[in-house]
Amino acid sequence: MKIASNKIADIIRYFRDELSDKYDNGELETIIGWCFEDFVNIKSFELNARKNETVTESELLKFNFAVKDLKRMKPIQYVLGSADFYGMKFKVNGNVLIPRPETEELVEYIINDWKEECLKFQGRINILDIGTGSGCIPIALKKKISSANVWSIDVSEDALAVAKENALANKVEINFMKEDILNPSIAFQSSSFNLIVSNPPYVCEQEKGEMLRNVLNYEPHLALFVADNNPLLFYDAISDFALKTLAPKGMLYFEINQRYGEETKAMLYAKGFKNVELKKDLNNKNRILRGEI
Ligand SMILES: C[S@@+](CC[C@H](N)C(=O)[O-])C[C@H]1O[C@@H](n2cnc3c(N)ncnc32)[C@H](O)[C@@H]1O
Repeated sequence: MKIASNKIADIIRYFRDELSDKYDNGELETIIGWCFEDFVNIKSFELNARKNETVTESELLKFNFAVKDLKRMKPIQYVLGSADFYGMKFKVNGNVLIPRPETEELVEYIINDWKEECLKFQGRINILDIGTGSGCIPIALKKKISSANVWSIDVSEDALAVAKENALANKVEINFMKEDILNPSIAFQSSSFNLIVSNPPYVCEQEKGEMLRNVLNYEPHLALFVADNNPLLFYDAISDFALKTLAPKGMLYFEINQRYGEETKAMLYAKGFKNVELKKDLNNKNRILRGEI
C-alpha cells in the first residue's frame, strides 16, 4: 500500500491504516502530530482545517519513510532525530539514550536544591555529569545555572559527538571529556566539584524480558545495561569517585533503578554520605537519590 495522494487527509489516513495495530489511538495521533510539525511545520491543531492542502514530493517521501520505520517500532524520537527535554530540543540518534521524563524530574530537583546555594556561591559552582548521552542533563543544568562551570564525561565517543552538537545548538558551554568512570584516568583534584550527577546504566540483563521492543532493539545497550550480578556497579564506582572529588557540603545526585532504591541508599550511607534522600518519580517509583558529604 502507498499513500493515495499528496493530500494531508490521505497522509493521515495512511498513518492510521498502517499503524493502528501497532500503536494505541492516543499515541498514534501524537506521532502524526509530531511528524507533521517536523516535516512540514504544520501544528496538530491545524491539521483538520488544512486537510485538503498538499505536500511536496520530497515531503511525502519523509512521511513514507517514517511509516516504514514506525512499523518496525523505531522510536519516534529516532525517526525525527530529535527529542524534547526540559523545554529544549536535543538531537538524538542510535548512539544516545532518548532523554526520559524521569530525568527531567532529576534536573528539576537539582535546580530547586541549588537555586539558593548558587546565591551563596555567587553562582560559581562546579558541576560534573557522568554518562553524558545526548547531553541533556549538563546542558539543561547549564541553561538554568548559567554561571556554573560544567564538565561532562562519557565512555562513548559517538555519544559525546551528539552531546557537543546539542550544547552548540542550545548555546551553552560544557567541558566534554571521553572517560571511563569505571577506570578513571583523569586526575580531578579533591574538592573539584560542588555537585556530581549521574544517570548511569542501571537496567539488569534479567530485566530485558520486561522491556519494550522499541527500547531493546534501538536504544544503545551501553547506555542501558549492567550485569545481573553487580547491579550497583556504577553507583559504587561513582560514589567512590564523588567522595574523592566533591567539595565540603558537595552533593551527589543519581537516577536509580527503582528495584534497588533502598540498597543504593544504604550503600551511600555505608560509604559515609549524610542526609541521603530517596525520592519517588511521578509514577511513584523510587527514582532519585541524593547524598551529601
Ligand atoms: C542511562 S545513559 C544516560 C544518558 C543521559 N545522561 C540521559 O540521562 O539521557 C548512561 C550513559 O552512560 C554512558 N556510559 C556507559 N558506561 C560508561 C562508563 N564506563 N564510563 C562513562 N560513561 C559510561 C553511556 O554511554 C550512556 O551515555
